[in-house]
Amino acid sequence: MSSRVEVYPPSESCRTGSYIPSMEAYREMHRESLADPEKFWRDVYKQFHWEQPYTTFHSYNFDRSKGPISIKWLEGGTTNICYNLLDRNIKLGHGDRIAYYWEGNDPDDYSRLTYRKMLEEVCRFANVLKSKGVTKGDRVGIYMPMILEAVIAMLACARIGAVHSIVFAGFSSDSLGDRMFDCKCKVLLTVDYAYRGEKLLKLKSITDQAIKRSSDLGHQIESCIVVRHLPRLSASMNCTNGEAAHLQEVEKEVPWDEDRDCWWHSEMEDAETSCYPVWVSAEDPLFMLYTSGSTGKPKGVLHTTGGYLMYAATTFKYVFDYKPGDVYWCTADIGWITGHTYVVYGPLANAATSVIFEGTPFHPGNDRFWAVVDKYKVNQFYTAPTAIRALMKFGEEPVKKHCLRSLKVLGSVGEPINKEAWLWYYDLVGGKRCSIVDTFWQTETGGHVLTPLPGCTPMKPGSATFPFFGVEPVLLDEEGHVIEGPGEGYLVFKRPWPGMMRTLFGNHERFEEVYFSRFEGYYATGDGARRDEDGYLWVTGRVDDMLNVSGHLMSTAEVESVLAEHPGVAEAAVVSRPHKVKGQCLYCFITPQTSQAFDATFISQLKTRVREKIGPFASPDVIHHAPALPKTRSGKIMRRILRKIAVNDKNIGDTSTLADESVVASLFKSRPADS
Ligand code: WTA
Repeated sequence: MSSRVEVYPPSESCRTGSYIPSMEAYREMHRESLADPEKFWRDVYKQFHWEQPYTTFHSYNFDRSKGPISIKWLEGGTTNICYNLLDRNIKLGHGDRIAYYWEGNDPDDYSRLTYRKMLEEVCRFANVLKSKGVTKGDRVGIYMPMILEAVIAMLACARIGAVHSIVFAGFSSDSLGDRMFDCKCKVLLTVDYAYRGEKLLKLKSITDQAIKRSSDLGHQIESCIVVRHLPRLSASMNCTNGEAAHLQEVEKEVPWDEDRDCWWHSEMEDAETSCYPVWVSAEDPLFMLYTSGSTGKPKGVLHTTGGYLMYAATTFKYVFDYKPGDVYWCTADIGWITGHTYVVYGPLANAATSVIFEGTPFHPGNDRFWAVVDKYKVNQFYTAPTAIRALMKFGEEPVKKHCLRSLKVLGSVGEPINKEAWLWYYDLVGGKRCSIVDTFWQTETGGHVLTPLPGCTPMKPGSATFPFFGVEPVLLDEEGHVIEGPGEGYLVFKRPWPGMMRTLFGNHERFEEVYFSRFEGYYATGDGARRDEDGYLWVTGRVDDMLNVSGHLMSTAEVESVLAEHPGVAEAAVVSRPHKVKGQCLYCFITPQTSQAFDATFISQLKTRVREKIGPFASPDVIHHAPALPKTRSGKIMRRILRKIAVNDKNIGDTSTLADESVVASLFKSRPADS
């Protein structure tokens, strides 16, 4: 990429008073953070409460030839992250500050919670968990919409040293069951029902099926605690009498197991409002979160306590340039890492005031995001490119209807942001005065690793720019040689930062294999990147068989295995194809069994299967009838060629290894009309 790409310097208003006022200041701080990490992080460390101070600041091994991969920060130190987020902030005088403005799916449904009240609720729920036999190290599953109880539950786990394992409430019962089985979840939390837009989700019945699945696989979940969410909704939804009566009927149908299930509100009634925190080691697990693996089975990414706290706090402060009094809003769901680090841990560590949003950008109208920004006078807004692209379709009017003058920083996360979307975000939403922070990171990295800083970094649309403090990115070529200066290669990191994952739950071997075997001595992200002449980094996307649909990472292998389970499927091959709104979408080649008719029923069965087994967000866009697949003589499917067929690009390059070339021509000819 040439330096002719337009550069957008931070506006005067963003520069004034920003924590990092210039690129010189950034470079100096970044240099120091690598030269003497202990000195750099000690200032952060000192802001928090440590019951016992650390004895060894940091140690690690990134090289398998020298022994097992290990990453440790603040060893010997003990603390409690919930204490640091709540009790410490209250002691500092922030008890009456709003921690969250909750905005429901319905605009008439909202509430707020102060730090003091939050602590009380967290303590009560921690006591409820204890009464269910949960102790330090136990896993607690959370399958909930974006409601305050979800945050309360996360912090209640942290308070007693339990490990939360959240599954996004858009995942199917099979996905939830498999994950709860894998982590040997003791207690699972959910709600009766939730609305997403106009759609009623029966989360408790999905949870019941998941519990059954886990039990069939051999692990019994002991208790299920259910938040009664629907009646509150009907109370605030201005229902007609008829609608309210209908909802009451629905409520009566909540499936129930007397021995295992209980209501959140009944348990909370008698619970004590104080609960002494359990002091845990800095390297004790805080949470696990599943992410897709390129071989199909999801990986339980494990994060620990001390380093994660420092990293979540520091990235939040600098990347959003958060100042006391600001109102911050991250639209991510707590079912994803962005919701963990930038809805919960990062903001609370900074005593911030956030908006937490249950709904969708399209309900009740396509201006919902902007209405909420206006309502709460949001200063920092953080969302995903897929949402921006979806909203661009509705033009300027929904944005212009609202006053967005409060905005200072606009964040983007989850996938590369295309220039068109970047400019729309910058010009229209940000009024050309806001800094855009295109944050590159992963479930595994725990927090931002490449990102511009507001008021500091001159922006280039689509570039995640430079590393955060403590982060040392490297580009490698195929053979593992370091690419200095401009060039393109594999994006890897040379050393750990405090918020990085420590292992995959119960499978350290897979952890080493997936992230540390391709290039000895480096953590491999699985993404490619390019460095331009000005040193800017541009993430180019996955280099493995993973794809990113609307910011949801998934592997082609997991979709293939679901499709292949259908008795009418002989073979399935899935590739990604660019999509205007979703970024990428699923294009599936299906070879049916000879007895199977390739008709509309079959196609819809396949699509439904993927939705049911994985989740609605994984729904395939195209099912292509492929009587045969292009294979090498040794029988390997040539995905490179399938990707070309998916975009109708006849320029397929070298085909000398193909066993049967005629397969390719006939697939080009049989592309479905709607693709
Ligand atoms: C992609 C989400 C380009 C990337 C926080 C990464 C991005 C994967 C960006 C992780 C960005 C995330 N620019 N690509 N700003 N942010 N990605 O684990 O492919 O859900 O590896 O974490 O999303 O997705 P995950």
